[in-house]
Amino acid sequence: MRSFILLGLVAVSLQAQQKPAQPSGPIGAWTPVPELPGMGRAIDIPATTARRQALLARLGKGTVLIPAAHERDLEVDYLQDNDFRQHNTFFYFTQLETQDAWLLMTADGAGGSEVVLFLPPRVPMRERWTGVRLGPDSIAARLTGIATVLPTDSLDRRLRRARGPLYLPLDVTTEHETRIRDLVYSGRDVRNIRPVVDSMRLVKDAEELGRLRMAVTISAMGHVAAMRAARPGMGEYEIEAAFESEVRRQGADRLGYPSIVGSGINGTTLHYDTSRRQTADGDIVVIDAAAEYGQYTADITRSWPVNGKFTPRQKEIYDLVLGSQQAAIDAVRPGIRMATLDTIARNYMKTNSGKLCGESSCDRYFIHGLGHWIGMDVHDVGDYSTPLAPGMAFTIEPGIYIPEEGFGVRIEDDILVTDTGHELLSAGAPRTTEEIEKVMREARKKK
Ligand code: GLY
Ligand code: MN
Ligand code: MN
Repeated sequence: MRSFILLGLVAVSLQAQQKPAQPSGPIGAWTPVPELPGMGRAIDIPATTARRQALLARLGKGTVLIPAAHERDLEVDYLQDNDFRQHNTFFYFTQLETQDAWLLMTADGAGGSEVVLFLPPRVPMRERWTGVRLGPDSIAARLTGIATVLPTDSLDRRLRRARGPLYLPLDVTTEHETRIRDLVYSGRDVRNIRPVVDSMRLVKDAEELGRLRMAVTISAMGHVAAMRAARPGMGEYEIEAAFESEVRRQGADRLGYPSIVGSGINGTTLHYDTSRRQTADGDIVVIDAAAEYGQYTADITRSWPVNGKFTPRQKEIYDLVLGSQQAAIDAVRPGIRMATLDTIARNYMKTNSGKLCGESSCDRYFIHGLGHWIGMDVHDVGDYSTPLAPGMAFTIEPGIYIPEEGFGVRIEDDILVTDTGHELLSAGAPRTTEEIEKVMREARKKK
C-alpha cells in the first residue's frame, strides 16, 4: 500500500444508510458468465464503451495502448490471496479480468475512432492448470462489446501503422513491460496517458458507484461483525478474522488493503497491521479495514471498547473526533476543496478541546491529513486541488492518538459528493458511542 492517509447495487445500500447493517447472508454473489468459469462478473458494455469514447474525444487525435496485468508466479512471488488483479487503467476501459491482453484505441482527429483488443491464443494444456481463458475470438468480442479482437502477435504490426502521439500508461505497472519500454525509446512522440485517465477516474460514473456502494456496504457489515464478536482477552487476529470472514461471506473479492486492528497502545500506530496482541479489558480497538468488490474498495475505520462500554475519558475523546468529522461532513458539497474540509475539522478540534488534552488543544494528536479519494485504489488517483463535484468519493477520517494514555481513536467514513451536498455511504457501520454500545450489548445478550 502506498503512503498511509495521504491528506489526511444498489438498493441494498439504501437500507444500510438508515440503520446499522446486519449480516444477513451473501449479498455480493457473482453474476456467472458461462463462457468464463474462472473469471466471474459480466462486463458493463455501455459503461466501458462510454469511457473509451470519452477518452478518445478528449484526446482528439492519437493512439492509446494499455496493457493488462500478467499472472503472478506461485513459485516466485509471495502470494497472499488471489494471484491476479487487473491493472486499474486496463480495467477502467474494459472491465476484463484476463491476463496478458492489450487494448489499442485510436482517434483519427476527424471524429473517427477504432478500438482493438489483443489477446493471446488459448493453450488447452495450460488451461488444465489455469482454467479456461479468453482467446482472440467471437466470444471475447461478445463479452467485451469490442468488435475487433485480434491475436497479440498482430499488435506490433498495428502499432507501426499508428499515426499521431502515442499515449501509454507510464507508471509502475509498465516499468518492466518490454513493449512499452521499446516504444518509449523508439523516438516516437510518446506521452503519459495517466493524468487524463486519472482525472476521469476522479469522478465516478453510475456503474462505478454501484461497485463502490457494494464494497462499502459489505465493509460496514464486516465492521458490525467485528464489534459483535469482540470480547476482552481476544487476540487482535480474532477480531480481524471476524471482519474478514464476514466480508468474504458477503462476496468481497479480496481486502481493499491489509486490515489494521490495533488494540490499546497499538491503536496509536497508524499503520499497525501485525494483529498479534491479546486485547485487555478497557482497551479501545481501532479497526481500519475494508473489502474490495468488483475492483473498487471501501475504507472504513471504527474505534470501540473491546468490553463494549466506553469509559468517560474514552467517550470524551471519541466525541471530539466524531464532532470534528461531522463538521467536515456537514460542509461537503460541490465546489468546496479537500483542504478546506481539513481546516474545518482541525478548527473544530481546536475550538472544542477545552482541557481534554491539557493546556494545548487535542489537534496536536491529530497527526495525519483528513482524507483521500477512494475508488479502485484505496488512496485513489486524482488532483487534490480539484473542487469537489458530484460523483467524487473520498474518506473523512480524523483521529486522536495518545500514546501516553495507551489509546487512539480514528473514525473514517466514505462520502459521495451529490448534486446538492453529500451522501454518507458508510452509514451502515455504527458511528456514535450509543450506536456502537447498543450493537455490542445486543450481541452479548444473544450468547
Ligand atoms: N486504510 C488506509 C487509510 O485510511 O488511508
Ligand atoms: Mn483512509
Ligand atoms: Mn482507512
